[in-house]
Amino acid sequence: MNAQNSTILDTDLFGGPGLGYRRPSGSLLKWIGNKYKMAEQICSYLPKNFGTFHEVFLGGAAILGTVSPKEGVGSDAYGPLIEIWEAVQNNPQKVINWYAERYEQYYSSEDHKAQYEQIKARFNNKPNGPDFLFLCRSCYGGVIRFRKSDGYMSTPCGVHKPLRVETFAKRTLEWSDRLQGCQFVQADFREMMAAAKPGDVIYCDPPYVDSQAILYGAQDFLVSDLMAAIAECKDRGVHVMLSIDGTKKSGNRVCDVQIPDGLFETEIDIHVGRSMLKRFQMNGKSLESDVVTDRLLLTYA
Ligand SMILES: C[S@@+](CC[C@H](N)C(=O)[O-])C[C@H]1O[C@@H](n2cnc3c(N)ncnc32)[C@H](O)[C@@H]1O
Repeated sequence: MNAQNSTILDTDLFGGPGLGYRRPSGSLLKWIGNKYKMAEQICSYLPKNFGTFHEVFLGGAAILGTVSPKEGVGSDAYGPLIEIWEAVQNNPQKVINWYAERYEQYYSSEDHKAQYEQIKARFNNKPNGPDFLFLCRSCYGGVIRFRKSDGYMSTPCGVHKPLRVETFAKRTLEWSDRLQGCQFVQADFREMMAAAKPGDVIYCDPPYVDSQAILYGAQDFLVSDLMAAIAECKDRGVHVMLSIDGTKKSGNRVCDVQIPDGLFETEIDIHVGRSMLKRFQMNGKSLESDVVTDRLLLTYA
C-alpha cells in the first residue's frame, strides 16, 4: 500500500450493521462486481456531513441505493443502464412492466434458452434498457459480456430461474423511493468528477483491469486518468472514496494499481465472505482463501 499517512482500520470492529446506513432489501440489477454485500460497511466511512453524493461508475448502484441521498447524482458511461435507473426513479411501474413482459416471454415455451436468445438478439440489434434489465437478471452468472470487436452482448442464458415478478416489483418500488433525490446522467467519470462542488462526496468503483474491458463495455477506462481526477477533486475540497476490488488476486493487474503518494489519507480493509468468528469455529482450519478483502481509500481522514 503506498497511500501516505494511511490509517489501517479493521472493519470487523467498525463495519457491519448498526451504522445508520441500510442497504435496500435486495439488489435490483444483477451486476458483476456490485458492492451490494459491503454497501453498509462502505457507507459507514462517509464523512458526517456532505453536499451532493455522486456515484460515477454507477453499475448496479449499490452505494447510491444505500446512501439514498437527499441530493445525489448517479452516472455511468453505459446508456441502457442510465435508461433503467431514470425509469426506476420516475416511473417504477413502467420498469415492472418491462420485466414482467420479458419474464412472460421467457416462460412462454419450454425452451427458455431460445426465448432468452430472442431477447438478446433484439438487444444486440438495438441496445436498450428494458431488454438489458431482463438480460442482466437472467444471463449466466449475471456477467454481462460484450465482444471487444463490435460490442455484441455474448453471455449465454443462466442456469438459475430469474427473480419472480412479485419480488422484482417489490424491490423496484423500494429502490424508487430511495432514489427520489437523485438524477442520472450518461457520462464519462472525468466529466462528472470535474463538475462536483466543494463539500460533495464522490464514490468510485471503477472497472480497473484489461480483462474487464469487455465487461460493461468499459474500453475507455485508464487508472491514471482516475487518479488525476481524484487529485483534482481533493485540491478543490471534494471528498473521494475509492474501492479497489480485492477479489482479483495476483496474476491480475488489480494488485498493481499505482496509487500516487499522498493522494489518500485513509485505507480500510473491507471484509466480505466468511467472518473471523467462523474461521475459529472451523477448528483452526484456514479459510483464508475464502475471505475476500476489498480496499477502500479515502482522500480524507
Ligand atoms: C465495477 S462496475 C460498478 C459497480 C457498482 N459499484 C455496483 O455496485 O454495481 C464499473 C462501472 O463503470 C462503468 N464505466 C466504465 N468505464 C467508464 C467511464 N469511462 N466513465 C463512467 N463509467 C464507466 C461501467 O459501465 C460499469 O457500470
